[in-house]
Formats: sequence, C-alpha cells, structure tokens
Amino acid sequence: MRKPLIAANWKMNKTVSESASLIKKLKKSLKNVKNREIVVCPPFASLSAVSKLLKNSEIGLGAQNMHFADEGAFTGEISPLMLKELNCEYVILGHSERRQHFKEDDDLINKKVIAALKNNLKPILCIGETLKQRKNNQTFNIIKNQLINSLKNISKNNILKVVIAYEPVWAIGTGVNATPKQAEEVHVFIRSLLSEKYDKKTAEETRVLYGGSVKPENIKDLMKEENIDGALVGGASLSAESFAKIVKY
Ligand code: PGA
Repeated sequence: MRKPLIAANWKMNKTVSESASLIKKLKKSLKNVKNREIVVCPPFASLSAVSKLLKNSEIGLGAQNMHFADEGAFTGEISPLMLKELNCEYVILGHSERRQHFKEDDDLINKKVIAALKNNLKPILCIGETLKQRKNNQTFNIIKNQLINSLKNISKNNILKVVIAYEPVWAIGTGVNATPKQAEEVHVFIRSLLSEKYDKKTAEETRVLYGGSVKPENIKDLMKEENIDGALVGGASLSAESFAKIVKY
C-alpha cells in the first residue's frame, strides 16, 4: 500500500519569522492526522528554524533544491550534507521553475538525484509538460524523456526512496489544475515506465504525486484516482487553513 504524501512547496515565500508562525499553526491543526505523510519544504533560510520547531512532530522536512556536490566553490549553493544536518528528509529536484528560470536540464537533475540518494535524502523528482507540448501531443514523450534521463543509474533499491511528482507546467500557479482523469492518465503512464525500467512490483510501490493548482476544492477528486498518491502543493500551502484542509481531504 502506498501511503498518501502531501508535500508543501513554499517556494520563495515566508521569512524566518513568517515560517515559524505558519509552522506553529500547522502543528496545531495537523496534530491528530493519521494515515498521511506530511512534508513541508520552506526556503533555505527558514530550514534551521523550522527544523527546530518540527522536532518530535509528525510533519517532515524537505528542501526545495540542492547542489550535487558535498562541498566546494559553488557560491550561493547548498549541499546535501548541509540539508542532512538540518534534519531534512526530502529534497525537491527538477521543479519546472528550476528548469525554466535556472536552466536546469535532465543531466544536472540526474546528478542531483544521485547525490541526494547517496546522502540519504529522498528526492521528490518533478516532471511535466508545458501547454505547448501538450497541445502538440508531446506529453508522453516529454514525460518519458524527463523520467528516464533523470533516473539514469538509479537502482531498483533506490527508486523506492524517490517520489515522482507529475506537475504539468500549465497547471502550476495558474489556478487551472489538470482534471483527475488527465492526471491519472499520465500517472498510469509513469508507472508503466517504472515497471519497464524496474519491475511491476517496484512500480506499484513507488509514489507518484500530482502538483499544479491543488486546492481544498479539488484534492478529494484527485485523490480518488487509483494512481495519484498525494500532492505537491504550492500556493495553497502558504496558509495553514488551506493546507490543513488539503491534508485532511
Ligand atoms: P501551485 O504550485 O500549487 O501553486 O500550482 C505547485 C508546485 O509548483 O509545486
């Protein structure tokens, strides 16, 4: 059984004090939630404060990006070792905003996935097509290339530590989510690719999240689909009230 995972991607929002105040509210409203894994991914500057506040809580911690090297002359970057010391369990990799604004490609993302796993961090690997690609019937091709290239040299043992997030670029931050059927279709395809690359059992055990304008109003229907195992939530994770509603769908 795949345990549902609801992850919050705060992106470049919330100062340290704002992060602390959001976490305090979330801890209260999510106290007795069962059968869900909950993860928050604050900006780097807030990780230390949030990590302390989350000690002994049910909410897990993730980062939004990292460099692949353990250390070195990479001004402005953050290493896996630094994230580990802050008690991060997850790291979002290959988010479409990283691909679009910071020119990250599948080769670089693959290096990061390998580095995360080497350092015992679980990657939340994001893949997804643009609107133009969807209109040109390239969705499956794009998904296949992104998935296979980002998972180069990742063993069967390790893939179970990876969470895949299908995030159609046209649905991110637009208010227009993929319909449950549109998302399910791609999730089924992702699972079939995992089954080809690894095996059926491994594919069945790997979690595939949906992301892109997830809100309290649409989470229930999305989660009814057999192959949607949770959500990566941006905008709606910035308020404790809406994120708690999503978690408790
Ligand atoms: P959104 O962002 O929920 O604001 O659409 C999702 C994401 O980018 O992970």
